Amino acid sequence: MRRLLLIAAAGAVLASGAIAQEEDPFADAVEMRHGLMLQMATDLGKVGAMAKDEVPYDAAVAGKAAANIAAIASVLSMDQFPAGSEYQKSADSFALPAVWTAQDDFLQKIADLNTAAAAFQTAAATDLDSLKAGMGGIGGACSACHKAYRQPEE
Ligand code: HEC
Repeated sequence: MRRLLLIAAAGAVLASGAIAQEEDPFADAVEMRHGLMLQMATDLGKVGAMAKDEVPYDAAVAGKAAANIAAIASVLSMDQFPAGSEYQKSADSFALPAVWTAQDDFLQKIADLNTAAAAFQTAAATDLDSLKAGMGGIGGACSACHKAYRQPEE
């Protein structure tokens, strides 16, 4: 019965042309990349607060946050960006079509993030001055990709 209801609901959604989370074949991929991005943002926030002297520098916490960013960067690939899962085609996606039309450059941006994250991992765990000096590199790797491949939220 529940199955029939689901099928009926699916038909209604398709008929109305709406993108519903349940019917969107890319919902899982979009959710996955959002989770990875949000974790990186959380970790970047931790080191950012130290860089801005909002919280005291803690080498262990900074090193762990930077290690997390490096680990997540190594996971990023086209696996989380299946073709078609773009802005206005897939629910919740802010990924611009250029991700797929300029895929080589997009992959290069992922590689650049990995390079920046590896350097930042050493810097963040060294001392506060090194962490501060390294912030531009890691933050720049995030924003370089967002500028080209992410639709800004209105
Ligand atoms: C290779 C490209 C690329 C890099 C590098 C990158 N991002 Fe993203 N990011 C994206 C794209 C594309 C989106 C939009 C994804 C979507 O909405 O489907 C995004 C979305 C996000 C979001 C929004 C997530 C949500 O729930 O809507 C956050 C936060 C974010 N990125 C943080 C970061 C941080 C922090 C870094 C660096 C440590 C980073 N990103 C590096 C491409 C990148």
